[in-house]
Amino acid sequence: MTLVISIHPQHIKKQRIRHAATLIKQGGIVVFPTETVYGLGADAFNGKAIKKIFTAKGRPSNNPLIVHIATYQQLHTVAAHIPHKARTLIRTFWPGPLTLILKKAHHVPKEVTAGLNTVAVRIPNHPIALALIKQSRTAIAAPSANLSGKPSPTTAAHVFHDMNGKVDCIINGGTCKIGVESTILDMTVDPPLLLRPGGISIEQIEKILKQPIAFHPAVSHPKQKVSFAKAPGMKYRHYAPKAQLILVEGKHHEVISKMDAFARMYKKKQKKVGIIRCTSDGMLKKVDATLFIGNTPQKVAHNLFTAFRTLDHKGMHIIIAEGIDEKHIGLAVMNRMRKAASRIIRV
Ligand code: TXA
Ligand code: MG
Repeated sequence: MTLVISIHPQHIKKQRIRHAATLIKQGGIVVFPTETVYGLGADAFNGKAIKKIFTAKGRPSNNPLIVHIATYQQLHTVAAHIPHKARTLIRTFWPGPLTLILKKAHHVPKEVTAGLNTVAVRIPNHPIALALIKQSRTAIAAPSANLSGKPSPTTAAHVFHDMNGKVDCIINGGTCKIGVESTILDMTVDPPLLLRPGGISIEQIEKILKQPIAFHPAVSHPKQKVSFAKAPGMKYRHYAPKAQLILVEGKHHEVISKMDAFARMYKKKQKKVGIIRCTSDGMLKKVDATLFIGNTPQKVAHNLFTAFRTLDHKGMHIIIAEGIDEKHIGLAVMNRMRKAASRIIRV
């Protein structure tokens, strides 16, 4: 049985939070909103509770979790060492969508870190998440609250779809503001290493650190022009809709005409075709659904995962998505789109 609790982020009812916090303390698993996406949380110091998260999500146990804390003081309970540069970033960006990889404190269980000697940690910028962590009097380890491989949930309805019956409690706190997950930065190396672009941009980080950061090979560098003439069947998909996603990126005019050509081809093959647009000129005709998800990178980030889920719900076989510039949060958007894509076309 899954208990659903509704809480307005601006009018938090303490006794409702207390209920969810009690479940955490008793070793239960609770879904809660953050400013990025919904998280599926358990007491970070209770290995048995953490295992339930992996089962509910169908997540491989070698993929570690992010630990959520409410105050800077609490950081010392999970991290053994906080380098100077980490402190600088923390002062600027916490609470917020920046996750730091630090040397772990020895009592953080191996279930959280997948046996690594480092831990991922952040203070979320959401009143419900913060109230829940404080009331629970512990740190809360939480991955995104989707089934493994699916798009992260940005509304309680998404969570309910994936997690009803699998978790003890879902806190419905409305729509998540940012819509893509936090930026992950490894602070155990110098220069810091970007493991996942997200809600805080590299431009923001580099400005504060006054130094360029390094990119993990898995993260596409914005300045590096990768030429994907055709890249069908990429190794694995993530954040992915059920439909086959074709991502078209490059020069705007050519992107639109390429998207149009794909739409026509799949319509001829009797497929249900959905379109994700980030600009509003030159509407494509004869498709089954068109979603315009915003004309700024922030709006596209906010709406992207909902768009994937909406088009799946409408039964599309094919989704053709328009890429955006990799500036600011656009880098995170393109990272998620590429991971979700079955095919990437650069024109
Ligand atoms: O915005 C977010 O980050 C959301 C909300 C709920 O906070 N959480 C989230 O968690 O996206 P998840 O589990 O979906 O992604 C966590 C990522 C994984 O890719 C994992 O591999 C990485 O963090 N990670 C966790 N611990 C790590 C570590 N010690 N070293 C390297 N990567 C780590
Ligand atoms: Mg996730």
